[in-house]
Amino acid sequence: MAKKYFIKTFGCQMNERDSETIAGMLSDMGYEEADRKEDADLVVINTCSVRDNADKRFFGTLGQLKSIKERRPDFLVALCGCMMQQERVRKDIERKYPWVDMVIGTHNIHQFPATLERTVEKNSEEACEREKDTADRFPEKQNHRYKKDHTLMEVYDEAGPIVEGLPQKRLYRHKAFVNIMYGCDNFCTYCIVPYTRGRERSRKPEDILEEIRRLTEDGVKEVTLLGQNVNSYRSGDTDFPGLLRKVHETDLARIRFMTSHPKDVSPGLIEVIRGCPKVCDQIHLPVQAGSDRILERMNRKYTAARYKRLAEDIRKAREGVCISTDIIVGFPGETEEDFKATLDLCREVRFDSAFTFIYSPRPGTPAASYGDMIPDEVKHERFNRLVEIINETQRESSMRLLGTDCEVLVDGPSKTDPHVYTGRTSSFKVVDFRWEGQKGLSPRGDEAEDIVGRMVRVRITQCRTFNLWGELL
Ligand code: 5AD
Ligand code: SF4
Repeated sequence: MAKKYFIKTFGCQMNERDSETIAGMLSDMGYEEADRKEDADLVVINTCSVRDNADKRFFGTLGQLKSIKERRPDFLVALCGCMMQQERVRKDIERKYPWVDMVIGTHNIHQFPATLERTVEKNSEEACEREKDTADRFPEKQNHRYKKDHTLMEVYDEAGPIVEGLPQKRLYRHKAFVNIMYGCDNFCTYCIVPYTRGRERSRKPEDILEEIRRLTEDGVKEVTLLGQNVNSYRSGDTDFPGLLRKVHETDLARIRFMTSHPKDVSPGLIEVIRGCPKVCDQIHLPVQAGSDRILERMNRKYTAARYKRLAEDIRKAREGVCISTDIIVGFPGETEEDFKATLDLCREVRFDSAFTFIYSPRPGTPAASYGDMIPDEVKHERFNRLVEIINETQRESSMRLLGTDCEVLVDGPSKTDPHVYTGRTSSFKVVDFRWEGQKGLSPRGDEAEDIVGRMVRVRITQCRTFNLWGELL
């Protein structure tokens, strides 16, 4: 019987994309996907270290696995992702979680299959016996590998050349993530990413286009081009706007990209947003703060005024474009006045959506040693005030679609009701609508499933907190 795997992914799209690569490699090795971690022979946890709540959830998940491991000694646990790049975390694992079988870093996930094979070998009774025997006979060699509770760690501090052509098992048939670059050179003072993902490296346009060609042949209609800072993409003569124009010539119907750093949004990019209709009505443009003093301390390299101008230019270039953002509250030294500047900026820009975060110090980053930390109660109180404004502008943005007809790419039936299907507009808003399938067929019948991955027109009839409701036209 085929061995089964289960992958738990924390964090950003970059990690989701890495998990798809690991899933692809595992299915090439003959593994099948399990629905629950309890049914798996191998659990992979792809970790995130960007904020401390992901840290905490990871250790929670890891703790749950211990009892499975105790019951089934063949059960394997593999860890990967950003947390594994931190020595502090690896030491913790060695000390407190020695039953973890293998650890692999962010720069060498292509070595996952080989490392897993060595792990399986190490874990097999036979190998343990063999090595124990060797160790008994040659005590001077003191080989301790026969001990099962020893974690195989394969982590590089620095990235090697980009490895192309790795397999991928996608979450959706009709949409895909495509990495265009790896790493980040910006060193925002709060952020751990430059330390865990290394320096910026861009893929060659021909490799990216080849991947997209294969994806469209396989039925993909929408791609999201991924990078920590897509606007600093460069390979030879091709910059990011140039790459977007090339991608625009493929058979894709929709192109998204993330994340954009405001300091690098060029007039060329705004021209692409104006002139390339396949580029979606959506841009994710993290502002982080509205006070110039805090932006400077964050090392963001733009001012609030420049950000506002940018947002205006983007909205002028494309009617109906939705701007989403990330905001951190409670950065060290943030005064009430600084925070009010963030609120003012939000009121002015009127974000279509926003991810709001409470600052959490990341060991090893400059801001973690700034000293003037904001008390928790103040952070929470500010957070709530911010969320109020964001909810208001977000709702306003959705209300604008009420009564209009939207093109929706259908993702599938909703989790709670098989007759309700869900999809996304070009502006990335979730739209739910009723779909009973064709007459006489159950909605789960093949013909009904056909709607998944199709572009349909939906009239928006209701605006709810997290989604829109509509009628299929
Ligand atoms: N604390 C809180 N939020 C953070 N982010 C990154 N680092 C931290 C941190 N130390 C947020 C930023 C970034 C998003 C991915 O996570 O807003 O854009
Ligand atoms: Fe982190 Fe700043 Fe790089 Fe984004 S641009 S990944 S926030 S360092």
